[in-house]
Amino acid sequence: MSQILVTGGAGYIGSHTCVELLESGYDVVVVDNLCNSSEESLRRVEQITGKQVTFYKLDIADRAGMETVFQNHEIQAVIHFAGLKAVGESVQKPMLYYQNNITGTLVLCEVMQKYGCKNLVFSSSATVYGDPASVPIREDFPLGPVTNPYGRTKLMQEEIFRDFHVADPEWNIILLRYFNPIGAHKSGLIGEDPNGIPNNLVPYVAKVAAGKLPHINVFGNDYPTPDGTGVRDYIHVVDLAKGHICAVRKLEEKPGVVPYNLGTGKGYSVLDVIHNYEEACGKKLAYVIGPRRAGDIAQCYADPSLAKEELGWEAQYGIREMCADSWNWQSKNPDGYKSI
Ligand code: NAD
Ligand code: WQD
Repeated sequence: MSQILVTGGAGYIGSHTCVELLESGYDVVVVDNLCNSSEESLRRVEQITGKQVTFYKLDIADRAGMETVFQNHEIQAVIHFAGLKAVGESVQKPMLYYQNNITGTLVLCEVMQKYGCKNLVFSSSATVYGDPASVPIREDFPLGPVTNPYGRTKLMQEEIFRDFHVADPEWNIILLRYFNPIGAHKSGLIGEDPNGIPNNLVPYVAKVAAGKLPHINVFGNDYPTPDGTGVRDYIHVVDLAKGHICAVRKLEEKPGVVPYNLGTGKGYSVLDVIHNYEEACGKKLAYVIGPRRAGDIAQCYADPSLAKEELGWEAQYGIREMCADSWNWQSKNPDGYKSI
């Protein structure tokens, strides 16, 4: 029976995608080195779905290990989440990021090619658009320049994939450009579990709501946006996960290399997010307006119409549900997967 290989499947987006895959009837094999995740997330995926995940604790750059996976399973397609993703860390440790994200992807693709699997869904990012000239952002907008090594690894990988297809048209690769994934599964069993002090807005807000951090630092209120704070296209992680099922199905049409934005098409400011989170957790959240964060842009939101037309995918959840589900996960798991 054919199976889907999910690299980075123990992580935040990967675990939610495993749930949707299993619930759609796919068999799931996960490869993850657990450098930013816990195997507990996969046990929770099994608990939610009542189905089993085959797990290999493995680095995607471990060629022999990856070959074993392809020998043991008939992999129909790969959903490739594995990668490092912290923007600030990538500025400090560019070699680590290029090595992990680029070399890892090259080894993965070499092994896929060797075993005749040329179907890939890739976790790209809205960061590939750099600072867009206008919003909403369409897939045909110019790419880059990107301001940090993490973002450059995404743009480079997209370009590498286009080269693969030119050389060998049997490669089909869907580039899913995520906007800002937040929220958690309705069960509260899986969610985002960052190490240390979160870099991203919603995990930080969640820690303030839980009383683990004193206040939110708002990075600038002098942007040319309605309330002066940065505007982003937040998307519920379950909607995002469902987009991957649509992409796996699209691969059957042999589309070549094609990008899709996965966003809601709506922009919310930092203060909008804080106020929605206050409603979700039922208390006021302290915040302090500070300077802008280096590399941030004023606003970023998607035109998601291509994904609707060609993948039949559209986000269902709004910002209230995103905040409510984030809080449900945070309050049930105050220390993430370490809470057990
Ligand atoms: P995550 O860190 O929770 O998940 C990534 C997983 O990959 C982790 O479980 C980690 O242990 C694993 N991993 C990393 N390097 C590996 C390697 N060399 N071999 C095997 N496993 C490895 O992050 P996430 O938020 O779930 O992101 C998943 C993907 O989506 C990443 O590629 C990320 O860059 C991309 N993305 C994320 C966001 C976001 O805001 N979360 C936005 C756009 C794109
Ligand atoms: C959102 C807004 C901040 C934290 C990042 C990556 C991007 C993608 C998604 C992977 C901005 C403001 C934040 C805080 C704040 N990741 N903010 N206080 O920067 O849009 O995107 O994650 O691909 O590549 O760059 O997300 O959640 O960090 O910030 O005021 O403590 O919240 O300035 O306006 P970002 P974010």
